[in-house]
Amino acid sequence: MGAPDEMDGIADYHGALLSHVETLYRPGERKLAIELVEALGCSITDTGFKGDGVDTFLAVHPNPNDPDPQSNVFYMSQIRPEQFAVEERLKQFSETEAGFAAQLNAYRDAARTKPFGVPHFALRLQSTDAIRHAEARIRNEASEALRERVHLRVFYPEDADTAVGKVVQGFLYQDVVVSGSFLMGQLIELQAQP
Ligand SMILES: [Fe+2]
Repeated sequence: MGAPDEMDGIADYHGALLSHVETLYRPGERKLAIELVEALGCSITDTGFKGDGVDTFLAVHPNPNDPDPQSNVFYMSQIRPEQFAVEERLKQFSETEAGFAAQLNAYRDAARTKPFGVPHFALRLQSTDAIRHAEARIRNEASEALRERVHLRVFYPEDADTAVGKVVQGFLYQDVVVSGSFLMGQLIELQAQP
């Protein structure tokens, strides 16, 4: 924010853009969700909006200097009972059906090691250093409760298996904040475009 050649805020951009992503956390994990997104370098505001949920929607801002509540944002709120019922049923199934458990593990393994074709959303950070700082917070400063729920793989341009030579891509696989299934987990990509 502030440089004469850039927008002051996303609200100054009037074209079409990707507005937001809707994400959820599990009952009792609002604080863990907050810890996770703050470790990624995002800031949080409370929208005050509750809808049909048990708690307010939190707005997560990839650019802490521009906490626009409507654009360049993703929301977090507690999972609704309808989805929770489905998730719990699938979880039981995964615990009793060996074949399904193996398939689920194979998917999770692919998400950790071959993330390029696995559903995700991506945050652009301002520099490679910003990604390194997020990496350090996740690996060294996060609570044990958070660290045991996340797996981070960062591809640097010099890596042999990088997908796109000029960008840094950090793939965080976790099941604290998801835009789909908690059982399948959610990849969040951190990207820097040096
Ligand atoms: Fe991506």
